[in-house]
This record gives sequence, structure tokens and C-alpha cells, in this order.
Amino acid sequence: MAERQSGAATVEPADASGAPGYTFHDHAPAPDNFREAVLHGLAQAHKAIPFRFLYDAAGSRLFEQICQQPEYYLTRTELALLENHAGDIAARVGPGAQLVELGSGAGIKVERLLAALTEPTAYIAVEISRPALVAAVQRLAADWPALDIHAVWADYASGFSLPLAKTQANAQAKAGPVLGFFPGSSIGNLRPAQAQSLLATWRQRLGAGAHLVIGVDLIKAPAVLEAAYNDAAGITAAFTGNLLVRANRELGADFDLDGFEHEARYLPGRAAIQINLVSRCAQQVTVSGRRFQFAAGERLHVEDSHKYSIDNFRSLADSAGWQALDVWTDANELFSVHHLRVRG
Ligand code: AVJ
Repeated sequence: MAERQSGAATVEPADASGAPGYTFHDHAPAPDNFREAVLHGLAQAHKAIPFRFLYDAAGSRLFEQICQQPEYYLTRTELALLENHAGDIAARVGPGAQLVELGSGAGIKVERLLAALTEPTAYIAVEISRPALVAAVQRLAADWPALDIHAVWADYASGFSLPLAKTQANAQAKAGPVLGFFPGSSIGNLRPAQAQSLLATWRQRLGAGAHLVIGVDLIKAPAVLEAAYNDAAGITAAFTGNLLVRANRELGADFDLDGFEHEARYLPGRAAIQINLVSRCAQQVTVSGRRFQFAAGERLHVEDSHKYSIDNFRSLADSAGWQALDVWTDANELFSVHHLRVRG
């Protein structure tokens, strides 16, 4: 097997003319990461597999489908907020922005921002799903020929450096302010202490004077929250179950897909939706030659989705070195979009 060079940047042509469309930066996790994580996670007293493994090609496609479910209010509410306030954001950030997106997915939301910003100079997409990343930057490179586009294949929670141009103080210069964009309430996957440390890491990485626009799902009636993670069409259940499909395919595991049930419940004490795969019966599963026992009703923890009040989130951001400048929310107070700036 060829040795992979982490961090190597390659230039991909945009079209037949050979003009560079984007540069590709490989900071992908080691391929064996999934096996180790599953073997480790299944050996714990409380079985768990880290949520980042939900996003293989099939998982990313299922997630895009989740975003279109009527119960899943998050995506459409955030999109409307971005549409209504992109102009406000652009006015506060100013011209020449270098836009950095954490977990760019299909790259749909960022277009709202790009369209509103005054002559943005760069778009840096950080995404763990390679197919989603490539599809998004290819489309954006075609639509935004003047933009310097970088595809960074990475887990945004891992350590790597960003291909940022040095910000110029002079108004004539090309590269302007750095604007981080972290939509979708992805921050909610982390426990508050981890969220604080991710925000602090990204404050360093984006640098002095940087802005951050971040979408955060709000605390609300448990029934509304639980419906969003138990859609009637069963897409969220398929998304959760895909983790077992992936383990069977990639690790030669023998999970019985009908032997586990998707469970999403709101835990008010933690202000979080917790998602598990619950074993329907006593059973045994083999992964890479190792056997694991499941009791009937035993949970395999897959994902948490933390919810915040506006004030809770502002104080979390503050404790990570970000000053809260603005917050926008919808009339029903389902979702919030915060504008933060590195405290000077
Ligand atoms: C991508 C973390 C924002 O928590 O709402 C959606 C993931 N999981 N349905 C969320 C998810 C199941 C989603 N985030």
C-alpha cells in the first residue's frame, strides 16, 4: 500500500482548460481508525462508537435526507436565518473575507454567505467525508471562479493547519478578514466542555480578529426535539443503523441489523438528545475475530445532540475567548445563529 502523505496539497483542474479549480489538503484520519474505535468502544461497560463514524458516503447521503424531513426543523430554520441575515453578517465582516467552513457537507448553506459577502477571496472547506467534500468544492469552483478554493479533508476536531493567506491591513490587499462558519448545530455533538475546547482551538486556528458565524439549536419542548430525531419516514433510524452496515462491510463484523433498534430521547438534565442502538435481545456480535455480548435492552451509544439557550451558548463562547456580537433567531425560537469575534 502506498504511503499517504498527510497534509500534501494537490491542485485539481476545474475544467478541460486545466485552470486550477481548488487545492486538496489531505489530513484524513488513518484508515484503521474505525476498527480501533469499534473494538475499543464495544469493550466498554457502556458501549459506544464515536459519532464521527456515522459520516461515510452512505451516512452523509442519509444525513442530507434527514435535513429534508418535515420533523427536522433545524436545517430549514437555519437556512432562513442565514438568508435573512447574510447581509448583516457581510456588513459586519467587510470585504475580501476568507471563509472557512467546519464540516462543509454538501456546501449548500455557505452559498448564502458567499452570495452576500463583498468580494470574498477564499473558501476553505473542512470536511471528513471525502465524496461530500469533493462534490461540494467542484460545484463551488465552477460557480465561483474568482474564489481561491481549498478542500481540507479532515476531522475538524483534529490537529492540522489551515491554508489561510496572511490577512492584510491595507484595503487594497486581496486577503481580508477570516470568517469561520460552523452551521447546522454540529457543535451540539460535543459535550459542553468539549465544545468549549473546540471553540478555543478554532479561536487560535482562525487567528486574531477572526469572526465566527455558528448555528446552535435551542432548548425547546421535548416532544418537538424528539420528533426531529424520530422522523416518521425512518431516515434517522437508517442513519443510525448505517453505522452497523458500515462495520459489517468495512470490518467484516456480523451485526444483525434487525437485532438493534434506533432510540432517540431527550435528557432534560443534560439538555441533549441522546441516540442509541438498543439490542432487541441477548445476542453476540463478532468484530475482527473478537466476540462481544449484548444483553436484551443494552444500549450502544451513537450520538448526542446538545441544545442551548442563547445565554448558555454566549457564556460558553465567552469562556473560549469569543465575544458575542449578535444573535439571530426565528419567530418560534427554534434555532439560533450567533456572530462571534475573537476577543481582542
Ligand atoms: C449534524 C449534529 C447537527 O444533532 O441534529 C441529526 C446530527 N443526527 N439526526 C443533529 C443528527 C441525527 C445533527 N448534527
